[in-house]
This record gives sequence, C-alpha cells and structure tokens, in this order.
Amino acid sequence: MVVSENNKGAQSLAAAAREPFAWSRARMGRASQSQRLVVMSNRAPVEVVGEGPNQVTRPTIGGVSSTFVRLLEHHGGLWIAWSGGKTAHRLAMPSPDTSRYTVLLLGLEEREVTHYYHGLCNRALWPLMHLMPQMCHFEGLDWTYYQRVNASFAHLAAAETVPDDIVWVQDFHLALVPSMLRKLRANSRIGLFWHVPFPPEPIFRIFPWREELLRGMLGADLIGFHTRSYTEEFLTACERVLELQVERKAGVVNYEGRQVSVRSFPLGVAAQDFARIAASEQVREHALRIQKSLGTPHIILGVDRLDYTKGIPERLTGFEHFLERNAKYHGRVTMVQIAVPSRERLAVYEQLRREVEQIVGRIVGRFSSNGWVPLRYLYTRFSPEELIAYYRAADVALVTSLRDGMNLVAKEYVASRIDDTGVLVLSELAGAAEELVEAVLVNPYDVEAIALRLKEALEMSPEAQAESMRAMREKVNRNTLERWAEAFLTALCESSSLAERAIVDAPSH
Ligand code: UDP
Ligand code: G6P
Repeated sequence: MVVSENNKGAQSLAAAAREPFAWSRARMGRASQSQRLVVMSNRAPVEVVGEGPNQVTRPTIGGVSSTFVRLLEHHGGLWIAWSGGKTAHRLAMPSPDTSRYTVLLLGLEEREVTHYYHGLCNRALWPLMHLMPQMCHFEGLDWTYYQRVNASFAHLAAAETVPDDIVWVQDFHLALVPSMLRKLRANSRIGLFWHVPFPPEPIFRIFPWREELLRGMLGADLIGFHTRSYTEEFLTACERVLELQVERKAGVVNYEGRQVSVRSFPLGVAAQDFARIAASEQVREHALRIQKSLGTPHIILGVDRLDYTKGIPERLTGFEHFLERNAKYHGRVTMVQIAVPSRERLAVYEQLRREVEQIVGRIVGRFSSNGWVPLRYLYTRFSPEELIAYYRAADVALVTSLRDGMNLVAKEYVASRIDDTGVLVLSELAGAAEELVEAVLVNPYDVEAIALRLKEALEMSPEAQAESMRAMREKVNRNTLERWAEAFLTALCESSSLAERAIVDAPSH
C-alpha cells in the first residue's frame, strides 16, 4: 500500500462560520489535551475519482460523512478511511477554524472493493442489519476479503497512532478492527459506533460468521448504538450466540477478562449550524426561488441516498394514492424527491433506480395538467447549504425508511425549521422515531397510511404545526452532534478505565 502526499483538490466542506463545539478534551475525565481523536470509517469525507492528472476529490454523501466532517473540522485529528479507489493519499483538510485535520486514505484493489465493500458490506451486512434477510448474499470469499481489509485498516491505525490517541471506529464495515487493533496495541482506547440498526438475534444468527463478527466488535472498550432497542438486540446476541455473561442493567459484556460497555447514544445534528444557515439571506432567497419555480402552495420533500432501505417506491406510491383520493390538491401540491446516486455497481441498486424512474414517470404522466407537474425527481446530490434551502422551502418532509439506523435528514429538517412551521412525517421504523415522537408517525409499508398521513400533514393547523415542531426542535437542539460526541467520548474514557482495572485486578496465574 502506498500513501502519497496529495492535498491538491482537497475541497473545503466547511459551511458558514460555526460556533465552537462544546466538547473539549479537558472535560473528558482522564483524557488530556495531548490526546488526539482518530476516526476510522470505510467512507471518508471525500473520495478521489479519476486517474493521474485528472484525479479530483469530491465530497461523499451519507450520515457518517456528514457527522465526522463537522466534528473533525472543529476538533482536528486524524481520519483513516478508504479513498474510494485504488490509490492511497494523505490530505490536509481545510477547516473554518484552526483545527485542521488530516485524512489518511487507504487504496483498495479492485478485488478488495468487489468482495469487501460490494460483497460482504453491501450484499450481506447492510441487508442483514436492516432486517432484510431475503436480500442477503453470503460468500466465503467476501468474508476472506472483509477480514483482509479490516486487517489493513487495523495495521494502518497501529502504525499511525500513539497509545494515547483515542481511536473511534465507525460502522459495520470495520467490525473486526477493534479486536485486530487491540491485538496489535493491547492498551489502546478503542470505541466503536454502529450507525445502522442491529437485528434481533434469530435474524442475526443467519450470518455465517456471526461469532467472529461479535468477537471483532468486542475488541472495543465501548460500543455505541443509536437506540436502546438496537443495544438490547446486540446484548442478546452476545448472550445467545457467544454465551457470554452480560450485565444488562449496567450495559456491560464480560469478555476475555475485560468489561466492554454497550450503550445507546442517539446521534444528533449540528442544530445551531443548520439554524444559522437556514436563517441566512442566501438560503432564504434560494428557498423562495424553489417555491416560486415549483409554483404550488404546498411542497412535500423526500431526501435520501437511492437505497432500498429508504422506502422510496412506497413513498411515491403513497403520494400517488394521495393524489388519487384528493383531487382538490391537484395543481396545489408538488412533491420533490432528491435521490443521491449510491452503490451504483450493485444490480439491486440499479433495479431500484429503474423502479423509481418508472413510478415517477407513471405519476407525472397520470396527473400532470395545465402546466402543473406533481412530482420533481432530482437524481443528484446537493451541498448542505442547497439542501437546507429545500428544507426551508418544503412544508412537509416525508421520511419513509423501511428501516434506518437513525435518519439524519429528519433531524436536519427539524433543525432548519427556524420559524416552527412545517410537518415531519416520519417512519416508525427509523431510529429517529424513538426520539421525535411528536412527528406524524407512519408505517412505511402501508401506502394507504402514507396517503392519509400526507393529507393530515398538509391540513395541520398552524398552531398544531408549531406545537409539534417546537417540541421536536427542543430535542434536536438539546441532543446535538457535539453533545453526542462528548457523551460517547466521556463514556469511552470511563469504560476503558474499567477495562484497565479489570486487567489490573485479574488474579495473576
Ligand atoms: N445529504 C447531502 N446531500 C444530499 C442528500 C443528503 O449532503 O443531496 C446528507 C444529508 O444532509 C444527511 C446525509 O446525507 O446528513 C444522509 O444521512 P441519513 O442518516 O439521512 O442517511 P444515510 O445516507 O446515512 O443512510
Ligand atoms: C450509511 C452507512 C454509512 C455509509 C453511508 C453511505 O449511512 O451507515 O457507513 O457511509 O450509508 O453509503 P456508502 O456505501 O456510499 O458509504
């Protein structure tokens, strides 16, 4: 593997000026100022595309990327991830304040990308974690490459970090890194955050390498999930699959003489940033332009990566049912669906794209009249600022994930509704629904219910809108991204001291 110095074309993802995060290393118990935050994830904030002199970096889209860009821009540190291609790079990332951070990008060979990323990650773990066993493909070679790539990440981390660093591993792509890194560096402080759901044990059990996966994760001092229920499912898997002793109340798994803490930390968004950008003149004008160009009094918005877990066909079909049953809204409502291209090399994503295009074509063909087009489908990606203009322009945000670890779009919409107007229609099966109970909740598998909830949302009185939006904004403003990071990192420092005590207290043989 080659790591080259290359920061040409590195793009600043910095949005408008932001307030410093509340989190500071000095507040993290035993952690000291010298400690550096090292984030590890499959996806980096940027990917390198093209070859040779045509090589450029471009921002990536997804919850992990959005989250850690904002954290590292403020705190500095090191981010180890895949470059998105074959070549390795080391980028010094610009940032709106002085905390420049470095991104160290691993290159992966074509076969590694095929078997590790497209294979084990996206054709096995992704559907498994989202409770879609019928979509899972299990191949021995994929698992071999998954182990191999996880080992490359762990070796790179061991070479690039010092024992004092705090290593924070992200998501299902790197589940084996905690135990692999611990073997290389017994005393490392290692956290793991799982950004997707964790399935009930009978579903998890179908994974052929279930024991190895759990053992890999248990190399961490602290494992975090978005919700209490994912945490419970994981603890159950530890008890039933590995027959480990679990202290449920304390959220502790006793594993190889260490006590691994397992807790829920619902991810938040940088609420103040969203509010500030939403209040800017530029975004206000952009939102007005969007409203004017669509030309209807009501706008419904959907924003997702084009992924089968997001329930986009169900959402569009729900909208179609709504139009069928509510002729009075013809000419008065537009639905905007932003679909970000994702994992395009996989056949199932390609099929989904065709299916969505077909439904879009059907709805537009069926209902458009007198210059009114009921549905705008944007197969593209937007910058955070552009997205916030859509959040401001839309009076309803419609999130219909069939299963979703958290769904940041729901929280970002709430954070951007600075005047307490607007309605969030939210899938009961998204992690965000555990917190945002004031949203109009919907079963995403029930397209009739989606149609009914849409009508309810469009007809909600300004008072009811304000009441529900205010309650949700309070929560989103309280549990911000910075609080989330602080809570996780503080717990990590406490839990790793537990681990050290367990080692020290263990009887010598
Ligand atoms: N996003 C973006 N541009 C787009 C669409 C989405 O920057 O055009 C961001 C969005 O702001 C959010 C993230 O992508 O922060 C999506 O996160 P979410 O948790 O909703 O879904 P994921 O893609 O992680 O499954
Ligand atoms: C989800 C996963 C992230 C991933 C993102 C985008 O949010 O939890 O880890 O980065 O989807 O998917 P991609 O395959 O493009 O990284």
